[in-house]
Amino acid sequence: MKTIKAFAPATVANVSCGFDILGFALEGMGDWVTVTERESPGLEVISIQGDGGKLPYDSDKNTCTVAIQAMIDELGINPGIEIQLEKGLPLGSGMGSSAASAVAALVAANELLGNPFQKNELLPFAIAAEKVACGAGHADNVGPSLLGGFVLIRDYHLLDVIKLPVPEELHCVLLHPHYQLNTADSRSVLRDQIPLRHATIQSGNVAGLVTGLFQGDFDLISRSLRDVIAEPYRAVLIPGFYEVREAIKAAGALGMGISGSGPTLFVLCKGSAPIPGIITAAQEVFESIGLGVDAYHSAINTRGAHIL
Ligand code: HSE
Repeated sequence: MKTIKAFAPATVANVSCGFDILGFALEGMGDWVTVTERESPGLEVISIQGDGGKLPYDSDKNTCTVAIQAMIDELGINPGIEIQLEKGLPLGSGMGSSAASAVAALVAANELLGNPFQKNELLPFAIAAEKVACGAGHADNVGPSLLGGFVLIRDYHLLDVIKLPVPEELHCVLLHPHYQLNTADSRSVLRDQIPLRHATIQSGNVAGLVTGLFQGDFDLISRSLRDVIAEPYRAVLIPGFYEVREAIKAAGALGMGISGSGPTLFVLCKGSAPIPGIITAAQEVFESIGLGVDAYHSAINTRGAHIL
């Protein structure tokens, strides 16, 4: 029986000012999905590793099966596929964990079925899985996990998704405090309406960040990492947020924000090597409030999900 394995990377969604419309992919971290043909029709998750027993096997709830089901529904077929999921990403971390599982499953299943879809055509199926995972069909994790690099979702209705350039020397530090925050909970604190002056500030920063990426202007990128829509409400869910931001900026980072819906924080930096003081500065703040933190250094992954 034919077997295919795929990898999909972790992602940072929002990138401060781009709530639900901007994200980028990370190197080294992600999820793996193996799909195997079987004779009897239907999808079945047969093993999940690395989730501490928390993820559902139920095909209506597991993001791998929800995504593949959406894809085969579109094709009008009902093949037999067994799915094995290996989680490299912590759940509820803000690193795009549910997205990486769905995207790896889609890339593997698409290959198993003889590639009926181009890579970018898999996006709607991954969005369907996000909707089941967190109640909102946001594409700012699945987009970059699938396609790699920096991704802009210009329009959800038309699914107009644009890959942005990644300046050389841009890299990221992820700070993952030791607790879980579910996206649905972290979305529930947000407001439905925003004041006009906040819309103006936010638009300026999104435009600034995108321009900074195109021009490789690190100072402009740094100035544009500001969010007045989600961060003010979510920062209270992350102890030490403002102190860590002050400390990492003093240590030479371009800026910091909440990775997706948190609690992981992303720090953008310029340079080909990690800036030594940044991780220590953040760890000291978290330690002072009694919170353990894992820190990872990563380049921006421009390849996205792929077959192994
Ligand atoms: N844009 C989404 C949110 C990302 O902020 O809720 C979730 O990872």
